[in-house]
Amino acid sequence: MPSGEYPPTTNDAGIPVESDEHSLTLGPEGPVLLQDHYLIEQMAQFNRERIPERQPHAKGSGAFGRFEVTQDVSAYTKAAVFQPGVTTDVLVRFSTVAGERGSPDTWRDPRGFAVKFYTTDGNYDMVGNNTPVFFVKDPLKFQHFIRSQKRRADNNLRDHDMQWDFWTLSPESAHQVTWLMGDRGIPRTWRHMNGYSSHTYLWINARGKKFWVKYHFKTDQGMEYFTQHEADQMAAVDTDYHTRDLFEAIERGDHPSWTLSMQIMPFDDAERYRFNPFDLTKVWPHADYPLVEVGRMTLDRNPVDHHTEIEQAAFEPNNMVPGIGPSPDRMLLARLFSYADAHRHRLGANYKQLKVNAPHVPVHSYSKDGAMRYEPVSDPVYAPNSKAGPRADTERSGEPAGWAAAGEIVRSPYVSHKADDDWSQPGTLVRDVLDDAARERLIDNIVGHLLNQVTEPVLQRAFHYWRNVDTDLGRQVEEGVRAKQGELDPKAAEQGNPARRSMQAKA
Ligand code: NDP
Ligand code: HEM
Repeated sequence: MPSGEYPPTTNDAGIPVESDEHSLTLGPEGPVLLQDHYLIEQMAQFNRERIPERQPHAKGSGAFGRFEVTQDVSAYTKAAVFQPGVTTDVLVRFSTVAGERGSPDTWRDPRGFAVKFYTTDGNYDMVGNNTPVFFVKDPLKFQHFIRSQKRRADNNLRDHDMQWDFWTLSPESAHQVTWLMGDRGIPRTWRHMNGYSSHTYLWINARGKKFWVKYHFKTDQGMEYFTQHEADQMAAVDTDYHTRDLFEAIERGDHPSWTLSMQIMPFDDAERYRFNPFDLTKVWPHADYPLVEVGRMTLDRNPVDHHTEIEQAAFEPNNMVPGIGPSPDRMLLARLFSYADAHRHRLGANYKQLKVNAPHVPVHSYSKDGAMRYEPVSDPVYAPNSKAGPRADTERSGEPAGWAAAGEIVRSPYVSHKADDDWSQPGTLVRDVLDDAARERLIDNIVGHLLNQVTEPVLQRAFHYWRNVDTDLGRQVEEGVRAKQGELDPKAAEQGNPARRSMQAKA
């Protein structure tokens, strides 16, 4: 269209409208008229613009790009997306976990790192976080954990007492909470953070050989973080700082990239490994399973419409392609149900037909009808049939990706492996990975968080929790809290002072 010319406004039926500004009225002073279908369409559409936000991970944004395989990992997986030289379109969405859609990007929280690969075998979704571990290891606790991070019933406020109450009654959270309170708990931007599958997955090669694997997307921009003070300042100045940073970087041609490497464990190692390799609160130390490089993911295209391309994006860990399968991690197995259920509620039964969610390959499923279906269905609509309908083909799908399992039906914790406990790995992080300055910041962050209206019984448990992670750290956290309480309210500090409490007990 020549510059200076505009397309005519139409209503949603494509009919040209008479005005962008004036409703139909009975004379210039008269009432608006019910037959102004365009005004009614505007009001009605507006009232339906908001869809339910994601329950967790509501605040986020993302971009499109590509994943290029640079190394040969075909010995470990037959997945088309990871074969040498293959390039695949991707969508990535980054998010915070607990905040609502309008909440600040720079709140301390893990970040979602969800990747949709539009592969030649259908969509593969790797729905990870920027942390290698998680707060809980049984899916029955996930909902409770998220509620403890959200808002109270009575005053609708987020509540640190509730958060620490849950964490200190769930010692398996110690590794993730240590990580969260450290520098990586507030990345400077989404471009400056890693992504991890956290879970262990199964890879299967062309000969049917199986491996347990963990994904590590390491940022090529380098790791950068905000201190608590910087993040607080930024939250006050720019609620959407991370969203803006990613969008602007891509706009100016500064395309962020991540190198994907894998930890790969031979299938038979799992049973005798010193850690339960399916326990989501543990990492596999690099010395045991070093990183094996696969390729590079680059983001180079911004969404044109955030709503249709990001808000309506539906990531689901159950989207696994031939060559990739789940592991016995019970958190992962629960997630295989939960996400599609969330999408049916949030987006509707036919959400997979939305452009952003549709695979880049033909779909030959037997799904049919339902609200908002727009891809036509053709006969035959049932299987088996003798009418040339689609037929399942294990040449294409492979055998089900799985492992042997047997036992009584129980409700039980995992069987512990010999080095499994809740405290050692966070202890290693504190003592061996963090330097003195990072440890100081960790202590300051924990103290600051605990000073935010955490009640005395919960505080006591928190001190104990941190002593279990590291005796010295626990002592410094307690001293830090008591000292600050003393500055803020000397009486409260005295009541919480351990020496004073034991004197009272003796009296
Ligand atoms: P390594 O010394 O080989 O690895 C330590 C890893 O810690 C680094 O590779 C880095 O992960 C990560 N790291 C560095 N700084 C921080 C920080 N401020 N906060 C959180 N993580 C940081 O030792 P191990 O593999 O034996 O792991 C030791 C501990 O490191 C673990 O108990 C765990 O807490 C933590 N860790 C381990 C990871 C793993 O997969 N093995 C991954 C991340 C953390 P990266 O290279 O991914 O940036
Ligand atoms: C989002 C459930 C654990 C990463 C969600 C959503 C649900 C959910 C219901 C919202 C989905 C939507 O409306 O689109 C669960 C359950 C879990 C679990 C039941 C455990 C039992 C995890 C873990 C990770 C993770 C361990 C990371 C390793 C994400 C991410 C999103 C998300 C990144 C946002 C996806 C997006 O950008 O759309 N989760 N989750 N979740 N979850 Fe989980």
